[in-house]
Amino acid sequence: MSNRLIDLQHITKSFGSSIILDDMSLYIRENEFLTLLGPSGCGKTTTLRIIGGFETPDKGQVLFDGKDITNLPPNKRQLNTVFQKYALFTHMNIAENIAFGLKIKGKSKSYIKDKIKYALKLVNLDGYENRMPDSLSGGQQQRVAIARAIVNEPKVLLLDEPLGALDLKLRQDMQYELIRLKNELGITFIYVTHDQEEALTMSDTIVVMNQGYIQQIGTPEDIYNEPENAFVADFIGDSNIFDAVMLQDKLVRILGAKFPCVDTGFGTNKPVDAVIRPEDVELTAPENSIIQGVVTHLIFKGVHYEMEVTANGFEWLVHSTGMYPVGTPVGIKVDPFNIQIMHKPESEDEEAAAVDE
Ligand SMILES: Nc1ncnc2c1ncn2[C@@H]1O[C@H](COP(=O)(O)OP(=O)(O)OP(=O)(O)O)[C@@H](O)[C@H]1O
Ligand SMILES: [Mg+2]
Repeated sequence: MSNRLIDLQHITKSFGSSIILDDMSLYIRENEFLTLLGPSGCGKTTTLRIIGGFETPDKGQVLFDGKDITNLPPNKRQLNTVFQKYALFTHMNIAENIAFGLKIKGKSKSYIKDKIKYALKLVNLDGYENRMPDSLSGGQQQRVAIARAIVNEPKVLLLDEPLGALDLKLRQDMQYELIRLKNELGITFIYVTHDQEEALTMSDTIVVMNQGYIQQIGTPEDIYNEPENAFVADFIGDSNIFDAVMLQDKLVRILGAKFPCVDTGFGTNKPVDAVIRPEDVELTAPENSIIQGVVTHLIFKGVHYEMEVTANGFEWLVHSTGMYPVGTPVGIKVDPFNIQIMHKPESEDEEAAAVDE
């Protein structure tokens, strides 16, 4: 991964009186798999449409390889989009669907034929040239939509929830297909999803968005292990999030109990959010712990047990390979390293504004 291929600079976009994106800045490197992740309505599709040239920002610039493309129409950009609601032309067969863009560009018949064959092979649909779209499964149609984008040899592929309509198994297969495609083609992917697992699986970089603001940019590991605020922690994976007080460096009060932690620099007696992942909560004998509770729920999840432990008035979510039946008295222990301390936003507005500064 090298330098910036696409650079969004201070993008603002409103529809009517609602500000959808507010002074958003973001860059995408060449060959990066970057995912925009966030809840419905947070502005993911709008961001993608601005990159693709289907929307013009009210303020700010889109640079491609250092050149301003803010006002360049989509077909003049070196990128291709697979939309959230992909549409194949139902009256055309698969080959004609894929050929469509190339014919407009005036490519030769033999060139087009080769390209169709190559693209269908890439998406594992050899021999499907003469089939009609409605004779294909949802996943196959989706792969045709991707093949149709690939034949144009874009430098960047924009994918808006391309797997949203597929069932879980097919979605997982397609995730691997997309990673393989990205590696084989060496192109840049900008991917939109509201599915955190999908984002963690596929991305080099994840951009977590909420209400038009970037909350955090990082690798899947960064985002999962070091969430920058409670929104990210809550959105990515399951978490126990506590109203806590940082008593002094390396000591935090959670539910009335003092826990050693590793964070410093929050001051003394400062309200903070403390986040503990369910897999980081250790259950022990009650007498071995500063917090005691009782197991109130138990579900077997295949790899681990998911338990709920009520302790000090809080329902702790716990993942463990050990099984503690409902009603078992337990103690709760947490390694200091596994307690994440985060600044508390002073209001919801500030939470949304706690962005990429
Ligand atoms: N053309 C438009 N006119 C008016 N409002 C719009 C338009 N396009 C998007 N919006 C609004 O902008 C906000 C962000 O929409 P956007 O489609 O970018 O969200 P999203 O993150 O892609 O959500 P989803 O996960 O549901 O697809 C929403 O509140 C939406 O209603
Ligand atoms: Mg969308």
